Amino acid sequence: MTLQLRVYVPEHPLIKHWLSVARDANTPSVLFKTAMTELGRWLTYEATRNWLPTMDVVIKTPLTECPATFINPEMPIGIVPILRAGLVLLDGVQNILPVAAIYHLGLIRNESTLEPSCYLNKLPDRFNPQTRIVILEPMLATGGSIMMAMKEIISRGVQPNLIRIVSVVAAPPALRQLSENYPELEIYAAIIDEGLNSKGYIVPGLGDAGDRAFGT
Ligand code: URA
Repeated sequence: MTLQLRVYVPEHPLIKHWLSVARDANTPSVLFKTAMTELGRWLTYEATRNWLPTMDVVIKTPLTECPATFINPEMPIGIVPILRAGLVLLDGVQNILPVAAIYHLGLIRNESTLEPSCYLNKLPDRFNPQTRIVILEPMLATGGSIMMAMKEIISRGVQPNLIRIVSVVAAPPALRQLSENYPELEIYAAIIDEGLNSKGYIVPGLGDAGDRAFGT
């Protein structure tokens, strides 16, 4: 199925474990946050494989010279957490990308129309065109918020092939829109669920990620 070509669901027992913890309705808020942090960490580890810019140099070990590869510090990396729920992945993502800049983007969806609107935008006017961006959106549901985020980021000079999305639960409506509009985009998720209920929640999903993480 072409839709899923660029959606990666890593087969890792830790990802399965922490997803199950997060999905369980009996998981308390503090453990839910731990689960999302761990998912952010392992999914970012997978998402940055073959994507982080490196540079090859020669270094001296205590014994002799040898070739070495480092992450290239000249190439900018940005993380865009979509508030609120994207914040829940941030600690784990920062474990993997500690020097990346964080650009907060606050989007809220109208619960009747399910349409998003922006209440906070910390994106720069223009990005360096070489900037790699990781968008954090744990729940890819209707696709409204992620499509708005993609538009805001790309309109500021980022190339779509330099963007990766780290999600937790992805649903077909959002994936369909993303793959139709951005075929070069790669998405990393812990699971692809069946669909949405009439209120736009992913089923079986994990409920409202923001409410569960922040205890609201
Ligand atoms: N946002 C959430 O937090 N959960 C869903 O199921 C859908 C959108």
